[in-house]
Amino acid sequence: MNYLRPVIGRVNLTNCVHSYAKPPRTLITGGLGQLGTALATRLREKYGRDSVILTDVKKPSHKVYSEGPYAYINILNYYEIESMVVNEGIDWIVNYSALLSAAAEANVSVAMDINMKGFENVLNVAKAHDLRVFCPSTIGAFGPTSPRKKTPDLTIQRPKTVYGVTKVYMELLGEVSSSAFIYGNVVLLICEVVKVFVCVSACVSVCVSACVSVCVSTCKHNIS
Ligand SMILES: NC(=O)c1ccc[n+]([C@@H]2O[C@H](COP(=O)([O-])OP(=O)(O)OC[C@H]3O[C@@H](n4cnc5c(N)ncnc54)[C@H](O)[C@@H]3O)[C@@H](O)[C@H]2O)c1
Repeated sequence: MNYLRPVIGRVNLTNCVHSYAKPPRTLITGGLGQLGTALATRLREKYGRDSVILTDVKKPSHKVYSEGPYAYINILNYYEIESMVVNEGIDWIVNYSALLSAAAEANVSVAMDINMKGFENVLNVAKAHDLRVFCPSTIGAFGPTSPRKKTPDLTIQRPKTVYGVTKVYMELLGEVSSSAFIYGNVVLLICEVVKVFVCVSACVSVCVSACVSVCVSTCKHNIS
């Protein structure tokens, strides 16, 4: 499973491959912003009208309702995300919910909640239900000390805005969570192997001691 594999750099949807027998079902959060409806249209063209559930905390236009499934989800509420995932058999989450740029600077604690706590909720639901997650970062995750020309993906990131800081947090949490998840699975696998080994050794030792006691009692019987 590599659903939490961090992808740093450009993502090209047309080259995006998936390993599902059926078309993936996608939940888009914060879907009524600049990017959400366009992505929903693109994914619906590719995977079918009902394969995408667009969500946001705002009431959509009639056009949005007519184009495909729409629901209310506040990403600050873990259970709202989880119940949608479970009830609708979601495979992918695209997390577009965020407070951007100037709005984030004007509402620091709300921005931290939505961009950080909200992302944590999305990540935790994804971990619990084996989902793939996409959450975009921003040029604002870099700062004045980042190299300006041919800026590499892995470089100095000391943004001077709250928005940038929340996006660096998101990038790092995604990266750490994916490796922690893989590490956790390896540990679980080792535990399973150890359990099997202990069971087999216990069975062997029970069998051996049973054979020995049978032998001993047979010998005693023969001697007497
Ligand atoms: N638009 C860009 O040029 C651009 C550039 C770089 C990165 N991004 C990133 O792409 C993502 C989407 O950007 P956008 O331009 O569509 O943003 P946007 O501001 O237009 O939309 C964000 C949406 O999030 C919703 N939202 C706010 N609080 C919410 C909550 N608690 N629960 C659920 N939804 C909530 C808002 O209602 C809004 O519709 C963001 O993560 C942003 O940082 C955008």
